[in-house]
Amino acid sequence: MVTVTASAPAKVILFGEHAVVYGKPALAGAIDRRVYVTARERSDRTVILRSEDMKTKEESLHLDGLGMVDTRGEFRYVKKALELAFDRAGSMTGIEIEIDSRVPPASGLGSSAAVSVSTLMAVLTLLGEEVSIEEVARLGHNVELAVQGAASPTDTATSAFGGILFIQPGMDSEMDRYDRITVADLPLVVGYTGIERSTKVLVDSVRVLRQRFQKIVDPIISDIGRITGEAKRMFETGDGEGIGQLMNINHGLLEALGVCNDRLSRLVYASRNAGARGAKLTGAGGGGCMIAYTPENQNDVADAITACGCNAFSAHISIEGVRVEKG
Ligand code: MEV
Repeated sequence: MVTVTASAPAKVILFGEHAVVYGKPALAGAIDRRVYVTARERSDRTVILRSEDMKTKEESLHLDGLGMVDTRGEFRYVKKALELAFDRAGSMTGIEIEIDSRVPPASGLGSSAAVSVSTLMAVLTLLGEEVSIEEVARLGHNVELAVQGAASPTDTATSAFGGILFIQPGMDSEMDRYDRITVADLPLVVGYTGIERSTKVLVDSVRVLRQRFQKIVDPIISDIGRITGEAKRMFETGDGEGIGQLMNINHGLLEALGVCNDRLSRLVYASRNAGARGAKLTGAGGGGCMIAYTPENQNDVADAITACGCNAFSAHISIEGVRVEKG
């Protein structure tokens, strides 16, 4: 029986979260924390899903039940990814999927995207399919769309391609565009509030706010888009001070959209006071994580976050996106 392991990195959104759902660009980086998915072929028609990180550690179902995936269960991203992989291959098999994640779930670091793209890669490889990274990114985005209702291609593309990407989502029938940004190093400290939250709920909350105050919310979304465009230029010219300042402005606008909370704010201000060049929430907000840009004072910033009772770790950009593990 064939066994394949694939892995994919978590991500941080550097600029542009939420606005990217409305067609504005985002800048995101894959980080050096990965999710590993092992797919093992079975001789029967059972699907077994396992993960030590989920509250339900194991779930099993019959292959025929896959198409009826509900969008609430803990393994929903894996099941949808399996369904799309089987559709793409035009064949299906009983299978065991084991997830080993080094990324806290529901933390804004894109663990669901990393799970989705690594499941797609592992299963398609196991079925003998040749698949490009572009296709895995596209299928991964379809997994998120099916599970969340609304999702930009940011998380799945960053996890699939790796590195730092400037993502311009194509609205309607346009294609998404990805530009790779090359930087020598991007020293970041990630602070984790420990509060799990749902991306879908936060994306919905911005939609509701926009419905009520469209004339106020639309300019905020456009400004976030402009900040992201300007940040791309700062990366190209190596203007670290500008990157930090733009992060701070971006954070203020995310506050205005109502996706921040007091613990995130505390970590952002503690980081700036400890010498970060800039700090902002990352991802959907509402808890989850923040990032601080720390070309200097990295230890002081991590200590300041820890002193607030939260976890901090330094993150480096992972150039490699999704990959099949050897051996
Ligand atoms: C979530 O990591 C980022 C959001 O912009 C949602 C999305 O892009 O799909 C909040």
